Amino acid sequence: MEMIHALAEAYAEKFSSPEPAWAAALSKETREYHPQSHMLSGHVQGRFLSVISQIMQPRFILEIGTFTGYSAGCLVEGLAPQGELHTIECRETEATVAKKYFNQLPNRHQIQLHVGNALEIIHTLTPTWDLVFLDADKTGYCEYYTLVMKNLRKGGLLIADNIFFHGEVLQPEITGKNARAIQAFNEMVANDSSTEKVIVTVRDGLVLILKK
Ligand SMILES: C[S@@+](CC[C@H](N)C(=O)[O-])C[C@H]1O[C@@H](n2cnc3c(N)ncnc32)[C@H](O)[C@@H]1O
Repeated sequence: MEMIHALAEAYAEKFSSPEPAWAAALSKETREYHPQSHMLSGHVQGRFLSVISQIMQPRFILEIGTFTGYSAGCLVEGLAPQGELHTIECRETEATVAKKYFNQLPNRHQIQLHVGNALEIIHTLTPTWDLVFLDADKTGYCEYYTLVMKNLRKGGLLIADNIFFHGEVLQPEITGKNARAIQAFNEMVANDSSTEKVIVTVRDGLVLILKK
């Protein structure tokens, strides 16, 4: 189910900052070759992530689920001058496309792309995160949350994507494996008194979680 009316999405695109050229090219290439191109954040969500990052000017950003690099390229736009963005992708083909586009960005030297299973790689990363974007396998969300919140600074922000899971969590009975995992994640986040959180109805739903 498309959560946002096509007219509203088109209106939001028209009156938001335009997609940078690299992002439009990445989006076009992904749509041409990838059967799951819908996973890419896209114009409005990409600008949303960029603005949040520019407000925060984070020193350390972690992204779980690079895909072809769209959201990482947006998040890095707000990174502090000496900052680092770490992004994790388990699939080689997608990581290769991401790398090609990262190499076109002015702050490419600040991006570290890790290829492998995020659940293993996260343990090897030492920074205290300012900003985290969670966008990998939905069945892993609860485990990623537990792992990452330990290393998120107070006042740091975790953003998780697909919290409506294409509208499946809105159904009276939630049957799919991924939708059930997202429902469990949403309940876990809602019950965590150590955070402030808000669900934002951008695209397939984002939750912004601020560590108190
Ligand atoms: C929804 S896509 C990410 C989209 C991307 N953040 C964007 O906005 O363009 C999810 C990605 O997570 C990757 N992924 C899934 N499970 C993973 C895991 N355990 N470790 C690392 N990457 C994983 C998938 O291969 C896929 O490319």
